[in-house]
Amino acid sequence: MEDKGHILMNRYELGRLLGQGTFAKVFYARSVITGQGVAIKIIDKEKVMKVGLVQQIKREIIIMRLVRHPNVVTLYEVMASKTKIYFVMEYAKGGELFDKVAKGRLKEDVARKYFQQLINAVDYCHSRGVYHRDLKPENLLLDENDNLKVSDFGLSALVETRRLDGLLHTTCGTPAYVAPEVIDRKGYDGVKADIWSCGVVLYVLLAGFLPFHDSNLMQMYRKIARAEFKFPSWFPSDVRRLLVKMLDPNPTTRISISSIRGSSWFRKGLRAKQINEGEDAAPESSENGQASGVNQQPPELPYLNAFDIISYTSGFDLSGLFEENGLRREVRFTSKKSAATIFSKIEEIAKRLKLKLKKQDKGLMKLEGLQEGRKGTISIGAEVFEVTPSFHLVEIVKSNGDTIEYQKILKEDIRPALQDIVWVWQGD
Ligand code: ADE
Repeated sequence: MEDKGHILMNRYELGRLLGQGTFAKVFYARSVITGQGVAIKIIDKEKVMKVGLVQQIKREIIIMRLVRHPNVVTLYEVMASKTKIYFVMEYAKGGELFDKVAKGRLKEDVARKYFQQLINAVDYCHSRGVYHRDLKPENLLLDENDNLKVSDFGLSALVETRRLDGLLHTTCGTPAYVAPEVIDRKGYDGVKADIWSCGVVLYVLLAGFLPFHDSNLMQMYRKIARAEFKFPSWFPSDVRRLLVKMLDPNPTTRISISSIRGSSWFRKGLRAKQINEGEDAAPESSENGQASGVNQQPPELPYLNAFDIISYTSGFDLSGLFEENGLRREVRFTSKKSAATIFSKIEEIAKRLKLKLKKQDKGLMKLEGLQEGRKGTISIGAEVFEVTPSFHLVEIVKSNGDTIEYQKILKEDIRPALQDIVWVWQGD
């Protein structure tokens, strides 16, 4: 039921189709109550479940809640029906930046403004442990005031603590904008990979075409791996210097965000105050006296009151999204404790409940019963994801055994024992 004029959940009147992907369609919609225009991403639950993307979607929602910045599309609420999930998002009236570039290259000052806003958004997301990993002009939208809004965190991931090298291992992103180390599949640093993509975006804005292009995909990858590109004659020397550093095929020597901010091309037209204080960064941050400019430290979390409020809002309850017979296999909580404190608490619980503890990989633990239950031995996985060093997301999932038995242990033993390290139970 996605036809134009259809009223969704008695709340939103659906309008025209804005975009379409494999699992989702995005529609314009208007709030029946306030008249406000929004974009609604409608995800087909069945398709997502078939390909095992349930966990990723749930994480995506948690990620989107963590990110509130004037240059990032805001998630207002999440709703679900039997067959669909609805992400109600900020509507960016100006459409895709891509459509502007498709008509021809941008003037230098215009490109610089969008690039500065892109760097602000990306820097802010990185400070929250969120990497976009699919930055390209199609994901860059414009609002009615011609301000950039980064959209689509569908491929984004929290810092996965699972791998010992601390690097991300999922190959994703769009080839033309993807960093060489991502193509290499050797594991990569999400920050450096996003900086590469920002470099490609900047090139495209100024040139009107891609830096790495070949009708043969292998040739294109080869060009990316060697950072083989040419500057059009109209590229000024200061932007050339910046781009060479951003499109460095070696991620370890690639320029950092703070050095991008310090480059002469980036700084042009910005008042010193703006650069140093991140004046055009998140209102949430400035309200709380936090500068989100250069070298921002990982956030101390008490000031995340927007997240706090949202966490208690029923529109963000994920528990009903993918229920199995009304019983959930997994629960999640956020914690402001260190990973070490969380792990030692889990160890203590395992000992107390006489469960065998197996450390499987960094960030992942298994707690197993010693006796056979109604449906085999109970096995519970606990996985810790780092958002920042002092903020973690923990997932507890039943991987074997009887669901009712698991629910009982969870309710009567595990949840009360975790209480002193839990900040917010997600979906409660
Ligand atoms: N296309 C995809 N997401 C959109 C949004 N939030 N606003 C406008 N167009 C979009």
